[in-house]
Amino acid sequence: MNTSVEIKPFYAIIFGGDGDLSTRKIIPAFFYRWLDGQLDMDFKVLCISRSIKEEKKLKSKLRGFIKEAVDQNGQMGQVEEFFKRVHLVNLAKMTDKEFEKLAIIVSEHQEWQRVYYLSVPSSAFAEICGVLKSKKLIQPNSKVVLEKPLGHDLESSKLINNTVLGAFSEKQIFRIDHYLGKETVQNLMVLRFANHLFERAWNAENIDCIQITVAEKLGVENRAGYYDKTGALLDMVQNHLLQLLCLIAMEPPSQLTPDAVRNEKLKVLQSLRLFDKNMAGDNLVRGQYTRGTIRGEKVNSYLEDIEKYNSDTETFVAIKAYIDNWRWKNTPFYLRTGKRLKKRYSDIVINFKAVQHNIFPDSQFDMVNKLIIRLQPEERIELVQMSKIPGPGGYRFKPISLKLDFVDSFKKRMPYAYERLIIDILRGNQTLFMRHDELEAAWTWIESITKNWMKESRLVLYESGTWGPGEEIMEGELQW
Ligand code: BG6
Repeated sequence: MNTSVEIKPFYAIIFGGDGDLSTRKIIPAFFYRWLDGQLDMDFKVLCISRSIKEEKKLKSKLRGFIKEAVDQNGQMGQVEEFFKRVHLVNLAKMTDKEFEKLAIIVSEHQEWQRVYYLSVPSSAFAEICGVLKSKKLIQPNSKVVLEKPLGHDLESSKLINNTVLGAFSEKQIFRIDHYLGKETVQNLMVLRFANHLFERAWNAENIDCIQITVAEKLGVENRAGYYDKTGALLDMVQNHLLQLLCLIAMEPPSQLTPDAVRNEKLKVLQSLRLFDKNMAGDNLVRGQYTRGTIRGEKVNSYLEDIEKYNSDTETFVAIKAYIDNWRWKNTPFYLRTGKRLKKRYSDIVINFKAVQHNIFPDSQFDMVNKLIIRLQPEERIELVQMSKIPGPGGYRFKPISLKLDFVDSFKKRMPYAYERLIIDILRGNQTLFMRHDELEAAWTWIESITKNWMKESRLVLYESGTWGPGEEIMEGELQW
């Protein structure tokens, strides 16, 4: 990826600037990049808020999150210096008149690029884009960043696209998925396309199945309203898990340009086998957490968390998916994610086929290799291979892991996902951002599930702090 593009002075204008995402992730990401010396040009971060009126209040909220981030690296003194570049802009009612206030502020440096970051529900996109356009606040070098969820089905996502495209061109739109900013996720491309060894074996002939898991310990926290309308399928699979699947399954792009990469990802999404009623019955599991104990602490059920008597929203989903193309013919891809599970971890496990002919008939193990790509909390790659236990007296076996731990190997702080992504936005590199046709293909597949699963796939209750309904699902094909 091109790292030589110079970042020009900029305004980052964050709608929802006082919200959780902005204060916990987005602004700290600007801080870190600045601290590392990557943002040594002039810039201002303008936080648009409807409720906060005093900058002091915003900064004290921010200080908590940035301090938390800084503590780990022992650098405390720089926060106030960075804060000189962060300002509050209160737009209580988002009226045209109020936007004039914003226009005056950004007119101070007409030539600076403007990055409009919409960290607000997509229902507000139309209004914001409309006023930005009518007030002539969009310049050719301006960009807009869209946070998920981008709609709740194909039609609504098309509507959002059309609305935003009414004000910005596709080249100016950055649909963000923070999973693509994670170092280990980016390393998937390097692992696959810079290592001859793996790419040769990366197909249905050699691979038995692939499992992509994102397990969370947290429940729905303070997002009950959003989550109950969304559920695990739309909150996690439609975006994060499908993006991981694309990187694992795509063909090598001919070059590392945004469109070459996104064209290959699009082909994967378009090759996903669509669900019908029969497929939905056998290849999907939906679950919802009940009360339980996590690390000795009692936790509520989902219904208690959302303060409702009834809801059939899933907090766990497992899907057996197929990609109907030459490379992956009949190779199952298991996608699963859930909240309130035993442990937080995300990984991708590539299960290779057993050796063609086993000359060690007494071995207790299947002679298989696994490549485990652990995305979080640790960031490492493990190659599980069969080994002889040393000693006389015949062959005894044990699976042994060769481990490559990123933090140990590179002895560097792993940047947060948003750090990488904001730099790409400032440089105008769209490789790690979804194009509108990718989004539509993802929605088409998701809709084939939501249209078919209601009656066919019952909701299984699982106790918080367990591995969910995972162990007995899909006839034991899924191993945790
Ligand atoms: C978000 C989802 O996109 O990703 C959350 O809305 C989820 O429900 C989060 O908890 C998980 O992100 P991470 O980076 O902690 O795995």
